[in-house]
Amino acid sequence: MSKQTWLTGITTSGTPHLGNYVGAIRPAVDASRNLDQEGFYFLADYHAMIKNQDPVMLRESRQEIAAAWIALGLDTDHTTFYRQSDIPEIMELTWMLTCLTAKGLMNRAHAYKAVVQENVDSGSVDPDKGITMGLFSYPILMSADILMFKATHVPVGRDQIQHLEMARDIAQRFNHHYGELLVLPQVVVEERAAVLSGLDGRKMSKSYGNTIPLFDTAKKLRKSIMKIKTNSQEPGEPKDPEGNTVFEIYRAFATEEQTEALRTAYAEGIAWGDAKQQLFELVDGVLSEPRERYNELMADPSVIDAILQKGAEKARAHSRPYLEELRRAVGVS
Ligand code: TRP
Repeated sequence: MSKQTWLTGITTSGTPHLGNYVGAIRPAVDASRNLDQEGFYFLADYHAMIKNQDPVMLRESRQEIAAAWIALGLDTDHTTFYRQSDIPEIMELTWMLTCLTAKGLMNRAHAYKAVVQENVDSGSVDPDKGITMGLFSYPILMSADILMFKATHVPVGRDQIQHLEMARDIAQRFNHHYGELLVLPQVVVEERAAVLSGLDGRKMSKSYGNTIPLFDTAKKLRKSIMKIKTNSQEPGEPKDPEGNTVFEIYRAFATEEQTEALRTAYAEGIAWGDAKQQLFELVDGVLSEPRERYNELMADPSVIDAILQKGAEKARAHSRPYLEELRRAVGVS
């Protein structure tokens, strides 16, 4: 069996939160320590630009996210950790793929359809209001990210499964037309990597403003956790863990035994305040050491810059010759 290539990206918009950690960073960090795999992990800053055209925020967020991944233990020696924007070959591949992608396929993308739906629901006369070509072709850029490095395994959150299907579709079309040059990636949805709910019970997402930041101080972390919306059940009343945000986040950080213990406590009527305190202690225990490393990295950007520079060189050692091959295949070399 040939070596597996794992690859994942994180869109550098906003400050990293617990949902990013559970859905993307933790599985990537675990995989980065597996020496049987080749790993590519990158900061999807051109994806961030789709939604965020504030240069200062873009830069800051990219720094925070890089620091978070490193502080949480990404093995940057053994894997390749880089900025998407440092790899110009990705942009060139994006165009090649764009020329082979059916517009109808992009019409079906959830991310784009959601915005159209919002426009329709708000009674706007233009269903495409505020929709750029960047948003519309987002799955093509993501496909190029993946196909550029011949990724075989792509760990993502559930909301990204459709994008992986599209990447396979697009790669198949390319291969059918130009020969078997692209590798079809396989999606990996880690079972524990549930899509976390946020403070208000909807999916934890920057766009809903309901996130719990990863590296706030312990005090602020506790304050956020205490704000998680719960129902009005009194202490002593048995509580249902299913669909409960406190329980769900707890489970994402806990061992199976810890989860079972909390399940029992719910059945026995634990007070919401006590359940939240337990959640805080668990999460703080996991994050307190990485938090210190994170603060050090944020204080001295040169360390991160050097790591990313080295990553870009390693990445381009793959992407440069491979793009040459692809250019020959499509007839532009
Ligand atoms: N679109 C992904 C997200 O928002 C991030 C991403 C960009 C990505 N390119 C990728 C993930 C390639 C995996 C592979 O979460």
